Amino acid sequence: MSYNLASVVENFTGFPRPAVMHELPALLHKNRTLSDEELKGLIETDQFDFDLVALADSVRREYYGTDVYLRGLIEFTNYCRNNCLYCGIRNGNQTLERYRLSEEEILDCCKTGYELGYRTFVLQGGDDPGYGDEKIIKLVAKIRERYEDCAITLSFGEKPAKSYRAFFESGADRYLLRHETANEPHYRQLHPQTMDLKKRQDCLWNLKEIGYEVGSGFLVGSPYQTTQCLIEDLRFLQHLQPDMIGIGPFIAHHATPFHDFANGPLRLTLRMISILRLMFPNILIPATTALGTIDPHGREHGLRCGANVVMPNLSPVAVRKKYELYDNKICTGEEAAECRHCLERRVTNAGYKIVTHIGNAKPLISSRRETGPQS
Ligand code: 5AD
Ligand code: FES
Repeated sequence: MSYNLASVVENFTGFPRPAVMHELPALLHKNRTLSDEELKGLIETDQFDFDLVALADSVRREYYGTDVYLRGLIEFTNYCRNNCLYCGIRNGNQTLERYRLSEEEILDCCKTGYELGYRTFVLQGGDDPGYGDEKIIKLVAKIRERYEDCAITLSFGEKPAKSYRAFFESGADRYLLRHETANEPHYRQLHPQTMDLKKRQDCLWNLKEIGYEVGSGFLVGSPYQTTQCLIEDLRFLQHLQPDMIGIGPFIAHHATPFHDFANGPLRLTLRMISILRLMFPNILIPATTALGTIDPHGREHGLRCGANVVMPNLSPVAVRKKYELYDNKICTGEEAAECRHCLERRVTNAGYKIVTHIGNAKPLISSRRETGPQS
């Protein structure tokens, strides 16, 4: 091994180094799953963190070396017909100035991104009735025509299967839709009664069936969340088998019903990233902007704990502050090139390397652990 595992983790201050490897992280590494009781044990204490991180980093290196994949995020509309209680762009937030980028502006973002080395564009937005299917189809087709070598990722909420299919047929490859929480009562505590967990999960199954590479994920430390909720999140993801899992801490937004709740803890978010890497060795895990918002080095920590993707902002600076999902969101004043170079530095400092190719998930090595170590 060309790197020192212990020092990688030791650099990550605050994680006590145990005298011997604990059994639970080793079991999770070996079997890629644990019982609910065992997961509870891992999630609720920090005593396993050193081993979790060490093993997660070794697995990410086994699959991805030190490579970190890039996704250029274009926040193209902050109109949203939904009213999720945690989200700053919820329909009920009357204080927010709304915007919608034109096709021309979005294509300009893609051009800037392509020149900066991005080979994936993520079109993310609220669930905006003003951006109807026809508009999206036309936009996706144009991006596809101009950037044959790029992946087009969509992320603007729940749509009928026939819309997802039409976007796919016009050239989209990937779709991101976090399930947010897989626990039914908890879902109802975070969302208005018009929203439904089953409906959201059905969207994810539809996306898979159509042929999208799918990203899902959940909030960490959201109001009313229990360990049981997190275990159910992991179980749902084991069932869904997505290509990407994005998680980030809940962060309060001043103009939402959850303005008074505490932010999700950094440490628990990092622990969940390591657990995800061990459960899903080959998947894509972003070090999210929310992680970078609750800690100045949150994204670097995320990479060390098993994340392998960063998603810098490509939106025009003029609109960035208006896409405020939560308070104090980072990267709202910087130009696209500044974020690109900032992340290059951060990734390098964390001991990894940005690569600019399209960045698909690697296949799972399925038989290795069952057959035991090869000589
Ligand atoms: N804190 C953290 N993440 C949030 N998101 C929305 N609001 C918040 C918040 N207050 C996340 C959701 C959504 C993604 C685009 O942003 O998980 O899926
Ligand atoms: Fe945007 Fe650092 S990544 S300023």
